[in-house]
Amino acid sequence: MNILYYTPGTDGAVWIGALQRALPGARIGRWPAASASDVDYAVVWKPPPELVVALERVKAIFNLGAGVDSMPDLSALPESVPLVRLDDAGMAEQMVEYVCHIVLRRYREFDAYADQQREARWQQRPRLSKSAFTVGILGAGVLGTAVAGALVRLGFPIRAWSRARKAIPGVESFAGVQELDDFLAATRVLVCLLPLTRDTERLLDAARLSRLPRGAYLVNIARGALLIDGELIALLDNGHLAGATLDVFRDEPLPAGHPFWHHPRIVLTPHVSAATLVEESVAQIAGKIRQLEAGLPITGIVLRERGY
Ligand SMILES: NC(=O)c1ccc[n+]([C@@H]2O[C@H](COP(=O)([O-])OP(=O)(O)OC[C@H]3O[C@@H](n4cnc5c(N)ncnc54)[C@H](OP(=O)(O)O)[C@@H]3O)[C@@H](O)[C@H]2O)c1
Repeated sequence: MNILYYTPGTDGAVWIGALQRALPGARIGRWPAASASDVDYAVVWKPPPELVVALERVKAIFNLGAGVDSMPDLSALPESVPLVRLDDAGMAEQMVEYVCHIVLRRYREFDAYADQQREARWQQRPRLSKSAFTVGILGAGVLGTAVAGALVRLGFPIRAWSRARKAIPGVESFAGVQELDDFLAATRVLVCLLPLTRDTERLLDAARLSRLPRGAYLVNIARGALLIDGELIALLDNGHLAGATLDVFRDEPLPAGHPFWHHPRIVLTPHVSAATLVEESVAQIAGKIRQLEAGLPITGIVLRERGY
């Protein structure tokens, strides 16, 4: 079996070594040193268009991430070639940690206490009502469902928005654009875990974010282009939103002069909410290759017309 590996800007030695250990019988080459012809499977991240075109006869292309928005146009590739994204592969646990930290920080008002400490002010704040502290999750897929479950266990009222209606224990499901305003109307902390597609790009504009109650908080750990940066800043500056934690940005690294860097109501992290883990990802990909070789179905195949 021939496997072709590509990620930009690295020699991929760690990944190639892990793939070799997981699939000892396979010959693994790195593009462009290795040819893209006679390849059974490709394992790639941000491949250039000329590589994708050359993969027209592979049995599957594995994307080294949950989101496939950085894939070039796939229209030149036959529909018979499945594009497979990572599902979970150790990312759900990281997203749970990241989001629970923020929700608890907001609910227990650590930011307000930090302000008080700067003023050397001793003041016990009245406890917030947990039953009114609703967290809304945009996206109820692999990651959104894991985050929702963890927050349910912490006792928060949880709602999630997706295309199709879901039955997740303890989670109120909202489906489709027609239910988005209702979903936003009672959301105190909005967590974005949507894929970036032509339907979701710039979804979080001023009009949508204004549907959130005054004082709501935004967490974007999906993709930066879901937001309109200037419109978010305007809503933070006029006090409609209390703050935002942002992990992803339209341009990464975030440019030096970007106003997000020094905004007093923005906490930012450099795209670390859920790293792609080598061992977990390779184990998942190797398992799926074995299933495909045995003629068995696999999960995680991207529906191209949906874009995720
Ligand atoms: N920051 C990071 O480090 C990091 C790491 C990993 C992933 N991510 C991002 O997280 C995203 C989600 O990952 P995942 O594995 O949870 O994806 P997933 O399993 O494909 O889930 C996507 C969810 O979004 C919903 N959705 C998509 N388009 C929609 C639309 N137009 N309207 C309403 N709902 C829509 C889907 O609805 P249905 O269920 O009805 O289809 C689904 O519930 C990835 O695409 C990636 O961009 C970021």
